Amino acid sequence: MGLSNLRVDGARLWDALMEMARIGATPKGGVKRLALTDLDRAARDLFARWCADAGLTLSIDAMGNMFARRAGADETLAPVVIGSHLDTQPTGGKFDGALGVIGALEVARSLNDLNIRTRRPIEIVNWTNEEGSRFAPAMVSSAVFAGLMSLEEARAREDFDGVALGAELGRIGYAGAAPVGGRPFHALFELHIEQGPILEAENVDIGIVTHGQGMKWYEIAFDGFEAHAGSTPMARRRDALVAAARTIERVREIALTEAPLGVGTTGVIAIEPGSRNVIPGRAFMTCEFRHPTEAALARMDAALATAVAQIAAQEKVSAKLDHVFDCAPTTFDADCVAMARRAARSLGLSHRDIVSGAGHDACNIARVAPTAMIFCPCVDGVSHNEAEDIKPKWAEDGANVLLRAALEAAEIVA
Ligand code: GLV
Ligand code: MN
Ligand code: MN
Repeated sequence: MGLSNLRVDGARLWDALMEMARIGATPKGGVKRLALTDLDRAARDLFARWCADAGLTLSIDAMGNMFARRAGADETLAPVVIGSHLDTQPTGGKFDGALGVIGALEVARSLNDLNIRTRRPIEIVNWTNEEGSRFAPAMVSSAVFAGLMSLEEARAREDFDGVALGAELGRIGYAGAAPVGGRPFHALFELHIEQGPILEAENVDIGIVTHGQGMKWYEIAFDGFEAHAGSTPMARRRDALVAAARTIERVREIALTEAPLGVGTTGVIAIEPGSRNVIPGRAFMTCEFRHPTEAALARMDAALATAVAQIAAQEKVSAKLDHVFDCAPTTFDADCVAMARRAARSLGLSHRDIVSGAGHDACNIARVAPTAMIFCPCVDGVSHNEAEDIKPKWAEDGANVLLRAALEAAEIVA
C-alpha cells in the first residue's frame, strides 16, 4: 500500500467533533461538560456507540477510563494507545480533549476503510476527569493508571458540593470492572490543540511536543473573624479576604519573578459569610504555578509558603496551605517523538518542537510507557474559553499525523 493512501477522512472527523460539541453546548458557542455529570455520561454513551459501530471492543476500568480496542494480528502484544478526554471546563471549548478522542476514533475508522491490519492492537482511550475543574486534581485517572495516586484516594475526591468522584462514577454507570493500570502500553500518542499562540503565529502546521511543564496546585484557607463593617476599627480587624487578596497579588509576583517561563494563577476564591456589611471571616482560594523546571517550581513553592505565613501574621488570621497536586516536568519519549516527527514530515506538513504549557494525561502516562504528543494550532492561542476555535484543516492534519505515528508504532501487517 502506498503511503499516500494513509489519510483520515477530514469531513467525517469534523462532523463527529461538531456532533460531540452539541452535548453541553453553551449559548456562546462553547461546551460545558463537567466530569461525571449527566452530560459527560451522554458524551460517553455517544463515544461508546461510535466505537461499537467501528467494530471496537470497549472496556471500562474502575476509574471510568474507557478503552476501545481494535484487535491486532498478535493479540498478545501490548497495545498502541491513542486518545485524550471528553470532559471540559465550565466555560470550555469544543476541542480541548475532544479532538484527541475523536481524532483517535477517526484513525480507527480510517484503518477500517483502508482495510489495514496492524500487528499490535490499537486502543482509543477516553480518560476520566482530565480537567480537574469539578474534582481536583487534573489528570486524576491517568495518575491512578500510572500508579501516581491510589484508586481509593482518587475515588474519594469531592467536588465543591461534597459529592465524591467514586459515587458519581457509579451514578452515571461508568464504574467499570477492569483494574486501573497494571498493564503495559507499547506506546501512547495524544493529539491535542496547542492551547497557546505559537503554532498559529509562526504559521506552523504541527507541534511535536518534546516536554511538558510541571505544575503545582494549592488550596489556601484563611480564618479571621466576622465583625461589623461599621463599628470595627480598622486596626482591630482580622479580615480573611484581605489576606487572600494580598496572597493573590503575591502569586502573580512569584510567577513574574520566574518570567518568562513561570506562570501563576488564582482560579477560585470564595468568602464567608459574603454579606456587604460583615468583615469576611473566612476565605478559601486555589492557586497554581507552572514552569518547565523542577528547580524553579521549588523556588515558587517556597516563596508561596513564606508569603502566606507573612500575610497571615500581618493580618492576624490563621492560614492553612495545602499542596494538593504536583505534576513533575515531563520529557516525552525520544522514539515516540521521532515517530510523530516522521509522520508530519511524510505528510509534507511544517512542524516544530514545542513544550506543552497545559497538563495532559500523556504527562502521567509518560512515567510508565513510551509517550508523545502532537499539537495542532488553535485560533489566537485561546483555550479554556468558549471561544476556543480551530480550522477543519488543522484537525485533519493533526489526525493524519496521529494515524501515521500510531501505524509506525503498531506496524502494518501486509
Ligand atoms: C488542564 O487542562 C490543565 O492544563 O490544567
Ligand atoms: Mn485537554
Ligand atoms: Mn483543559
